[in-house]
Amino acid sequence: MYYPEELIEEIRMKNDIVDVVSGYVKLQKKGASYFGLCPFHNEKSPSFSVSGAKQMYYCFGCGAGGNVFTFLMNYENYTFGEAVKFLAKRAGVALPEAEYSAEMKQKETHRARLLEANKEAAKYFYYQLRSEQGTAGYRYLAGRQLTEETMKKFGLGFAGKNGRDLVRYMKQKGFEDALLQEAGLAGFDERSGMHDKFWNRVMFPIQDINHRVIGFGGRVMGDGTPKYLNSPETPVFDKSRNLYGLNFARTARAGNIILCEGYMDVISLHQAGFTQAVASLGTAFTSGQASLLKRYTDKVLLSYDSDGAGVKAALRAIGILKEAGLTGKVIDMRPYKDPDEFIKNLGREAYQERIDNAENSFFFEIRMAERDYDLEDPESKTAFYKEIARRLCNFEIEVERENYLEAVADKYHIGFENLRKLVNTYAAQTGLAKPAERPKSGQAKKAGPEENSKRVQRMLLTWVTDEPELYKKVRNFIDASDFTDGLYRKVAERLFADIEAGNYNPAGIISMFEEEEEQREAAALFNTKVEAVETKQEREKAFHDILYAVKKNSYEYYSGRLGSDVQALNQVIAGKKALEELGKTHISLD
Ligand code: CTP
Ligand code: MN
Repeated sequence: MYYPEELIEEIRMKNDIVDVVSGYVKLQKKGASYFGLCPFHNEKSPSFSVSGAKQMYYCFGCGAGGNVFTFLMNYENYTFGEAVKFLAKRAGVALPEAEYSAEMKQKETHRARLLEANKEAAKYFYYQLRSEQGTAGYRYLAGRQLTEETMKKFGLGFAGKNGRDLVRYMKQKGFEDALLQEAGLAGFDERSGMHDKFWNRVMFPIQDINHRVIGFGGRVMGDGTPKYLNSPETPVFDKSRNLYGLNFARTARAGNIILCEGYMDVISLHQAGFTQAVASLGTAFTSGQASLLKRYTDKVLLSYDSDGAGVKAALRAIGILKEAGLTGKVIDMRPYKDPDEFIKNLGREAYQERIDNAENSFFFEIRMAERDYDLEDPESKTAFYKEIARRLCNFEIEVERENYLEAVADKYHIGFENLRKLVNTYAAQTGLAKPAERPKSGQAKKAGPEENSKRVQRMLLTWVTDEPELYKKVRNFIDASDFTDGLYRKVAERLFADIEAGNYNPAGIISMFEEEEEQREAAALFNTKVEAVETKQEREKAFHDILYAVKKNSYEYYSGRLGSDVQALNQVIAGKKALEELGKTHISLD
């Protein structure tokens, strides 16, 4: 953080969150909070809440949340620094020149320099496309039915045949050889000296969500190899945490995001009005990209190629989406190879229809698995049914499993009871899919064991935030090290220290984090719904249960690390005692 923390706090306190958010969202008072329609996802009834007391917002629908800085970072695409500047100005607070540590400063300057180089190169390619040298490129893109408007929107460009033009231009602009090489724009070898990395290619600048050019993809004209050449990873280009087109898709608010394989697919879809399309960056889809998507949607539609490689990639992506807690559906592109070809041949309405009929990822997986079996052969057919049963066991929640069981039995004309028997047999054999006991809360759907343990940690932090005087009771049993997630622990440390110091200030804690994603996660810690309980007795029981669950999780966590972590042993011994103690103690909430 480059500004002193007190200054950040002053700015935050001088910008009441209710005032600021009211400038963007129509809010209505309801109880202690204000509610409105969430600007970060599509909804018809308001689940977006703003609390004047906590100086935070939180959406119970999509989980967006944070303090006044987070809101602007999210809504206006500001970086943390930009949000601070904006609000300082709004409140009339003067900002000193930012103070950087020498190392930070150097790193930041270097990153800025790489971004500048990319921007300048993008400009160069852009003008090349429209120059005489670029005629072939322009004709190529026009031949692929891209309009001038689309080429402009995506900043498409052209790298000429000469192979030295960019280097010459960039040097003239004052960029050093080493930087050009690091940015992946130029190469060097004994024979040809400094030369352009991209030549005779149409150029796709890759932008981050703030529209900054962080790298390039270049497509060869015609049939050369490689078909696409991509910038290497650099300090500004992390391929596993960015997606092509997300800078536009993030505000499309279509209720879903379409994930495709290629740059051209994204561009064609946007041109046809599907501005929610994104693609990974010449590499396979990653879990980092899934969590990025999760900020904007919980519904991802896969629009991968219909060939073997595409199916394989789609199956892989489905697994990654699931892990991230996103539901995936698959858009059928047949008889065309990819969305680009599909749109060109059948047009936007037909594609919309395919979106509407997108296949549930479970059925897609089963349909693909079916190809490995011969359903005419009884033995193979049985094996296929067993495979279905095995996959059904992956649904941990009973209702969900039953629903799929019914649907899949129906679809493949398997007797419902027979399939159920297969599932039970399989489950009994492997100890899987016991009808899991789950808390009654509506959030049970995504909860694996890890998510459950994190959820009780969140509940405890929310409870203490809402009633800081309870900390006195908590501290006998729990300290920050009992929070087993790094970010949670950081927040708990600070929250508890603040309360001890009589300095309770949750919205300030959020500004400890500079990344929007972390701010949002921190905000969730203060806004987790605790089951509604009526009587004092129920409240006490709920509170006790949460404390116990947090402690137990911590105990198990440290027990699992015995041997690898010196601190763990102490923690485990103390944890065991505290658990026993907690088991016998009645905690009164008076
Ligand atoms: N890709 C790559 N390197 C290659 C081939 C492909 O990085 N040699 C990446 C690119 O990001 C490309 C995506 O994989 O956009 C999809 O590849 P492919 O299906 O072959 O490309 P298309 O999008 O169909 O390209 P085009 O329509 O231009 O032929
Ligand atoms: Mn294509």
